[in-house]
Amino acid sequence: MAIPANAAASLSFPVINMEKLETEERGAAMGVIGDACENWGFFELLNHGISHELMNEVERVSKAHYAACREQQFKEFAAWTLEAGEKGADVKDVDWESTIFVRHLPASNLADLPDLDHHYRQSCRRCRQVMKEFAAEIEKLAEKVLDLLCENLGLEQGYLKRAFAGSRGPTFSTKVSSYPPCPRPDLVDGLRAHTDAGGVILLFQDDQVSGLQLLKDGAWVDVPPMRHAIVVNIGDQPEVITNGRYKRVMHRVLTHTDGNRMSIASFYNPGADAIIFPDPALVGAADAGERNEGEEGTAVYPRFVFEDYMNLYVRHKFEAKEPRFKAMKADAAPIATA
Ligand SMILES: [Fe+2]
Repeated sequence: MAIPANAAASLSFPVINMEKLETEERGAAMGVIGDACENWGFFELLNHGISHELMNEVERVSKAHYAACREQQFKEFAAWTLEAGEKGADVKDVDWESTIFVRHLPASNLADLPDLDHHYRQSCRRCRQVMKEFAAEIEKLAEKVLDLLCENLGLEQGYLKRAFAGSRGPTFSTKVSSYPPCPRPDLVDGLRAHTDAGGVILLFQDDQVSGLQLLKDGAWVDVPPMRHAIVVNIGDQPEVITNGRYKRVMHRVLTHTDGNRMSIASFYNPGADAIIFPDPALVGAADAGERNEGEEGTAVYPRFVFEDYMNLYVRHKFEAKEPRFKAMKADAAPIATA
């Protein structure tokens, strides 16, 4: 059954002006963030401290990079996909997306990306440097967001950062995507519905070409494009750590007949050997009002090593989200936490 769209809901999409966090309106702004984490899985940040000039440059070089290095290859893929779809093949398991991945932590691969050299002497001259500067700013913002979540949850500052650290620190990477115009949006999505496996995701999205939608209360809701905003969404792991209080939600990208959508998503994720589990204080708080005195709360998510979760996730990314944790529970083996 097709899921309906809820256009009205996007009008109340949670947007936080971060400058208000420094004023007497901080409490209200924190409340919007808390409500967003519990009920939307997404929120949007304005005045987040990343310079508009840097964002403009990131947009310019990523679009130039697509035109110079990836467009031709995408056109071949697009022609094949359309032909197959129009002949009746099911291409709903295909994403109408052109991407490059840049890893920043624990070790950067920026210097190894041969594609970035292709147009180096022309409009992509500063490509690597710009992406490096932007990643450093996004990493700082991601850690600030984690601490805002800690504050709302009553956890000490740095708790979530430490929970993600593992032995080598967090994993941090960026997916630079283009969603070129598609003459048959009915045949293929830009990116199929999924949740994100990791921690928090910070997205710099096109302000002219929409397409990102989240699933809320059984209907698709647009994530409104706003100039120089950063969209944040909750990955699977904060849902585990908060014992379900914070929600990762399904989201997708639609295709359009006009416009080439830019999307630069940065993933601040746990390190491979980080051990993820519901925080005991949050487990205790979750259903406190419904328990008799002396009864302990129930952890509804298992304890696992993040890399094990990722091994499961890559096989089931585009399937329903709930069975993943059931499978982790079934596989659960004792984990040394000393
Ligand atoms: Fe995603």
